[in-house]
Amino acid sequence: MKRTKIKNALHAEAPVSEIRIGGWVRTKRDSKGFSFIELNDGSCLTNIQVIVDHTPEILAALERIGTGASVLVEGELVESPGKGQKWEVRGKSLNVLGEADQDTFPLQKKRHTDEFLRGIAHLRPRTNKYGAMFRIRSELAQAIHQFFKERGFFYVHTPILTGSDCEGAGEMFRVTSLEHGSRAPVEEDFFGKPASLTVSGQLEAEMFALSLGDVYTFGPTFRAENSNTPRHVAEFWMIEPEMAFADLRDDMDLGEDMIKYLVQHILDHCAEDVQLFGKWVDKTLMPTLETILREPFERVSYTEAIRILKKTKKTFDYPVEWGIDLQTEHERFLCEEKFKKPVYVYDYPKTIKPFYMRMNDDDKTVAAMDCLVPRIGEIIGGSQREERMDVLQARMREMDLSEEDYWWYLDSRRFGSVPHAGFGMGFERMLMLVTGVTNIRDALPFPRTPNHLEF
Ligand code: 4AD
Ligand code: MG
Repeated sequence: MKRTKIKNALHAEAPVSEIRIGGWVRTKRDSKGFSFIELNDGSCLTNIQVIVDHTPEILAALERIGTGASVLVEGELVESPGKGQKWEVRGKSLNVLGEADQDTFPLQKKRHTDEFLRGIAHLRPRTNKYGAMFRIRSELAQAIHQFFKERGFFYVHTPILTGSDCEGAGEMFRVTSLEHGSRAPVEEDFFGKPASLTVSGQLEAEMFALSLGDVYTFGPTFRAENSNTPRHVAEFWMIEPEMAFADLRDDMDLGEDMIKYLVQHILDHCAEDVQLFGKWVDKTLMPTLETILREPFERVSYTEAIRILKKTKKTFDYPVEWGIDLQTEHERFLCEEKFKKPVYVYDYPKTIKPFYMRMNDDDKTVAAMDCLVPRIGEIIGGSQREERMDVLQARMREMDLSEEDYWWYLDSRRFGSVPHAGFGMGFERMLMLVTGVTNIRDALPFPRTPNHLEF
């Protein structure tokens, strides 16, 4: 059943005498002696217009189709005399593949709310908006690999099943092969010790950075955070580069280059789809993206950020004090109101950060950085890593972590340790940035959140 994709047909250079196109009917309009069908096959946002004459066979087929039905059309690609499109298909045959009952098909022509569409996540990619979202998602994933490949980074597949908690936040999903409710000791479980889904591939990525130089991971990540926010999900994808012979500044430079590269790539390769979001979802999308491309990101220390937040007349729900973890309202104030562009905050208090971050000389802060962007807040979290064995051991003792559990991690400091740094970027947050959607659930094909495991 060789067919031409609608995207390719729309970009044809010359008429095509025999063409076969498959797709889903968006609309059907009957005229005297012929009908128009707007057909979409998901390859691009634009529909192709199909015109069919009312022969007895075609009339019988037309009877059976409405919005949502799938058809295969054979005919000719000709220049369109109508306005709004260069090419159209003169259909000679119309084959109905799958009917869609008009009384029960949920995607009728009217606009639906995002919330309604989340309830039919299995059908929403057939809408213009979600078709565009998931084409952009695909392109963005490819662009990430391209970015790192151009810079000589190696792609490492870190494990999804893990025995260690990288972030130390205790937000891990336990994995077991024992029956639910089993009282068997953990030694009888599959791995003979507690196992979880990974919250970050960082610790393993570090081992590869200290072997191959520059590496990155890009894969699914799981967090059992019980926070029902528009920016958190239980399953998301994270990109984690790790560079040997690098410090915090190199780390921030890489993150900034990466965000700019990805924004430019999406504007270059998904123009039509991005414009849909600029028009219907966020009118400030294009200016926001242009600012990101044009302006160097702001860089302020945590201490300076706290000073700025305390000085402003704006009142926050969560009071500002040196030592607090910045909340989304603080983060958004910094990049949306104060600096009006992406902002790096660096050198956070050690008390709110994980064990692996490099201790600064003040003994109070660590070489951590977060990149904050308008509308979202944190998009990147990273740090220079503690490469000094004695300092790392002291820190682990302070945080009650057992050296035994991390023996392999400590080996990398024991043998040929070097300064190194890396970060994690939330893939869906990056997608939110380039599309302007405000709920992370709309950037995932089938989002997983507390009490939602449908599909
Ligand atoms: O700041 P986080 O927790 O950093 C780490 O996991 C480090 N180990 C990364 C590293 O240095 N290699 O997470 C990194 C990013 C966040 O900035 C955010 O964009 C995203 O991951 N993220 C989430 N995205 C969606 N849902 C969640 N529950 C997320 N938690 C973090
Ligand atoms: Mg973070």
